[in-house]
Amino acid sequence: MNDLDQLVDQASGDFARATTPAALEDAKARYLGKAGQVTDLLKRLAALPADEKKVRGAEINQVKQRIEAALQARRQALAEAELDAQLKAEALDVTLPGRRRGPGGLHPVSRSMERIEAIFGSMGFDVADGPEIEDDWYNFTALNTPEDHPARSMHDTFYVDTRGPRGGHLLRTHTSPMQVRYAVQHVKRHAGSAQMPEIRVIAPGRTYRVDSDATHSPMFHQCEGLWIGENVSFKDLKAVFADFFRHFFETDDLQIRFRPSFFPFTEPSAEVDIAFASGPLKGKWLEVAGSGQVHPNVVRNFGLDPERHIGFAFGMGPDRLTMLRYGVNDLRLFYEGDLRFLSQFK
Ligand code: PHE
Repeated sequence: MNDLDQLVDQASGDFARATTPAALEDAKARYLGKAGQVTDLLKRLAALPADEKKVRGAEINQVKQRIEAALQARRQALAEAELDAQLKAEALDVTLPGRRRGPGGLHPVSRSMERIEAIFGSMGFDVADGPEIEDDWYNFTALNTPEDHPARSMHDTFYVDTRGPRGGHLLRTHTSPMQVRYAVQHVKRHAGSAQMPEIRVIAPGRTYRVDSDATHSPMFHQCEGLWIGENVSFKDLKAVFADFFRHFFETDDLQIRFRPSFFPFTEPSAEVDIAFASGPLKGKWLEVAGSGQVHPNVVRNFGLDPERHIGFAFGMGPDRLTMLRYGVNDLRLFYEGDLRFLSQFK
């Protein structure tokens, strides 16, 4: 092996021992750098006679090329090794079982709402929806509750603003304003027809009061009901309630009673209680709704003649019904969004 072959061997060995790009560049400098061995050989060519210079020069150039090729090969090997290491470090094991999200489900209160709509729908009730930010007029005044009426203090109201053409805005404290909104539309729609069809509607939705404990949430749900015709009476109300609760709780084994009460917008008014004949709540009277015959002043605000049009309204609490149906004793559980609770209703 001549000196030049030896030099190529030595360089290749140095390159092979370099395990990082930086070490490799250091090794390169020892051969191809300004003070490197190949550069040195080339410098020394100058001293040779012309014909020797030509031969030796060609040989050194070949050596240079071989060293450069070795360098390039090692550079590539190091780059590939680095990529391999990175791929290994970031590897995904696609054979691991996935982390399932699981099927979602309706919120228990939404389930109740759907049941309520379906059951009343089957009894010929329309379903209406209305604003949660309500006029003072619709929420109170139109419902026979003028300003300074003591009944206003029954509701702890969230006010949005207190001035405006209709007495300012508030978060509706009940769904009863929907009685007026719906009836007024209904009357308008059927103005001029010889016989106005009966009003039969429920209006489920969110309601708000300044109140918070195990059985009260500042946001809660109500479902309003209204049935106005020319001969609709309390016995119809009782029949509707009996039908509804038996379907809702899937049992015929329950009793219903009306307890005299007061609401400004109904006269007479009654609180509705139910009692189950069996199960954990057996024999206990549970308050589930407010109701009554719609007050003549309210019928007038519908745009109807109270001498001719008569009927009943009710308001019930879907949250309460949901608690009874599923045996939940703290209302707040419905609104904490804890999946351990909610996933039980899937
Ligand atoms: N709006 C009443 C309440 O929130 C319930 C009710 C509705 C009572 C309709 C009578 C008629 O307490």
